[in-house]
Amino acid sequence: MNLLTFDSHDKLHESGAGIITGLVQTNPRAVLGLATGGTPVGLYEEIVKSYRRGVVSFREATTFNLDEYVGLPEDHPESYRSYMNAHLFHHIDLPRGRAHIPDGNAADPAAECLRYDELIAEAKQIDLQLLGLGHNGHIGFNEPDHALNSGTHIVKLREETRRANARFFDSMDQVPTHALTMGVGTILKAKMILLVVKGADKAEIVHRALTGPITTDCPASLLQTHPHLVVLLDSEAGRLF
Ligand code: GLP
Repeated sequence: MNLLTFDSHDKLHESGAGIITGLVQTNPRAVLGLATGGTPVGLYEEIVKSYRRGVVSFREATTFNLDEYVGLPEDHPESYRSYMNAHLFHHIDLPRGRAHIPDGNAADPAAECLRYDELIAEAKQIDLQLLGLGHNGHIGFNEPDHALNSGTHIVKLREETRRANARFFDSMDQVPTHALTMGVGTILKAKMILLVVKGADKAEIVHRALTGPITTDCPASLLQTHPHLVVLLDSEAGRLF
């Protein structure tokens, strides 16, 4: 594991974006696994800046997002499709047809999960999977449980997860109760994992995930088993290391 702590968010975002753009520069056909949430916003801004400077193109790249809420219209401002459009997809030359996100409105969610896994399998391997971290140790929307799923699946969101994400909605009852998420097996199959964690409220969980027991009670703890894990922390999240 390669763990780096940054004293400024600008440097953290530049470093994370640099890893992703560097990968796409050397391998224009890279397959990227992307994440949502508050954490990667600044990192996406840096990627867009690099694209605008003309130093990187995503014309031949492919992306797979980790997850999507169930039941939010695709154009709902808080759908992860809207988030990705607003923060990245609408600002770079990634072809829309290769920017994949699970369809949270599919009539048959189980079939949609299979379709998503088949698409990932066709792409062979995710070269880099970007991850944030939930306060309860979730990655994507893989919540703590007695067992974890390998492939894409539908998940009932834990109340603490809904509460954490309620800040993006007008009220708690508007926060979806379910989501589709890539499974931990797929995440761990990525060639490289880039975990980004910010804020004092994540200091304990990121420390537990990376140094504590490997357990399905803390899905992020399984990242300890990955051979190429890079962790970027701000100084608040990194205070226990
Ligand atoms: C959300 C997302 C995760 C994200 C996490 C942390 O629920 N599904 O992919 O990493 O929660 O989000 P934030 O970065 O806003 O703290």
